[in-house]
Amino acid sequence: MHDARFDGSFADWRREARRLLRAGVEPQAVNWRTDDDGGQLFAGLAPTAPAPVSAPAPRIPRELPELLESASRYRADDRWALLYRVLWRVAHGDRTAILAGDGDGSVLQRRIKGVRREAHHMHAFLRFRQRPAEAGPPAFVAWHEPAHDILEMAAGHFAERLGRSSWLIATPDAAALWDGTLLRFLRPCPAELRELARSAEDPGAELWLAYYGSTFNPARLNRDVLESNMPVRFWKHLPEGPLIPQLMSQARAGQQRLAQAASVGERQGKEVLIASDKAQPRRAPSTSLGECRDCDIWRGATCAVPGEGPEQAPIMLVGEQPGDQEDLAGRPFVGPAGQVLNRALARAGLRREALYLTNAVKHFKWTPRGGPNSRAATRKHATPKPGEIEACRRWLGGELAQVAPEVVVALGKTALASLLETFEPQHLRLADFAGAPFRQGERWIVVAPHPAAVLRAGEEGERLFAELVAALEQARRLAAGAVSGSAVPGLRR
Ligand code: URA
Repeated sequence: MHDARFDGSFADWRREARRLLRAGVEPQAVNWRTDDDGGQLFAGLAPTAPAPVSAPAPRIPRELPELLESASRYRADDRWALLYRVLWRVAHGDRTAILAGDGDGSVLQRRIKGVRREAHHMHAFLRFRQRPAEAGPPAFVAWHEPAHDILEMAAGHFAERLGRSSWLIATPDAAALWDGTLLRFLRPCPAELRELARSAEDPGAELWLAYYGSTFNPARLNRDVLESNMPVRFWKHLPEGPLIPQLMSQARAGQQRLAQAASVGERQGKEVLIASDKAQPRRAPSTSLGECRDCDIWRGATCAVPGEGPEQAPIMLVGEQPGDQEDLAGRPFVGPAGQVLNRALARAGLRREALYLTNAVKHFKWTPRGGPNSRAATRKHATPKPGEIEACRRWLGGELAQVAPEVVVALGKTALASLLETFEPQHLRLADFAGAPFRQGERWIVVAPHPAAVLRAGEEGERLFAELVAALEQARRLAAGAVSGSAVPGLRR
């Protein structure tokens, strides 16, 4: 048996795994030991694994390190052994080791999914508390107890959204510190930071509870879904946690109906009525996306879903509108269509984190499925109308100006109609644009089938998925400046 010692990080595991792989050490002969489980007891002793040989580095698919890194965040006793087994098998030509139909592959994929879900939980359920200005930085602190080691992958989300305000996120094992420009991680988490985050008071708690109580949507109450989307283990650290059981029992006692709480649905938001020459007053354009009332879709939605990604990115993907899960998460492409997109991106050799993802329409438009008497009424996607796509175009325009992509991928007809500013998807045929990128000013537009269409397409799904992958590959090549496209093809009226 070889004791493979490393410091518990993925980078150090990778270095050691490569060494063992090149030395031909089989997975069943390796005992992975980190500093935490006694590895440091051996510090200073020679490794028991054979010295590196000069064999060439084995060839592995480009996406594998990313998959392994993601799975390495999943806490399980055998996490490093599983990774080495998968690496070994793939390096020896057995690529089924990463597929869900394989024994190792299914564990790997389940862990990756669990890690993503846990990162999503952090984005959704972390609550910052503001500290008094005289206390100095960090201005905001939060305590969170993730089930897996996701802090490093999940904390960037907050840096992108909270601007230059300084903050600390402390967890039992690690801390993330943002000073307004730089994000640092400390693993383990120093005791004083743990204490700081755990003991912070929340001066805005009352206001938040009043807001939460008034926007709680009894129509959507389904205890099982609520608890699977918002696991009970997070409730104790959420200011609204104690309120939830009470709101649930009120909902069961008769408030459940197919609409948002009336007090919310009828609210005027911050719209300002401007007197105009005509008899009807018109609305002032909303000044922030979160308060957008430029069309009526907001009334049924939980929130506006902004784009996500680096401030500037070479490639922007534009979808139609958020779906049910995106509406709850406040993030684009996290539901089933997002899973298809993730697979297509991986197949096309693109990293999601390097791209900017957004939608032509920012609120979720839906119609009820199941009546008010059904146990859990659900929301069925409804297609936005031309006027709604047009009303939302300025938000997309703002993102295009800010992100300055070289290539924009229109996922489906709504996105294309918005980019072309025709606002009439019904007059477009995706087939006219397939494989024919075109220039719009400085940028390329590539047209692709929408990932949700892949899901709906039945037997045609595989062909549509291949088209989606081909379009994404084309976008990658265009962003790298490798190929050229043509003038605007097939615009039909
Ligand atoms: N999710 C999104 O964010 N956009 C879509 O177009 C579909 C699902």
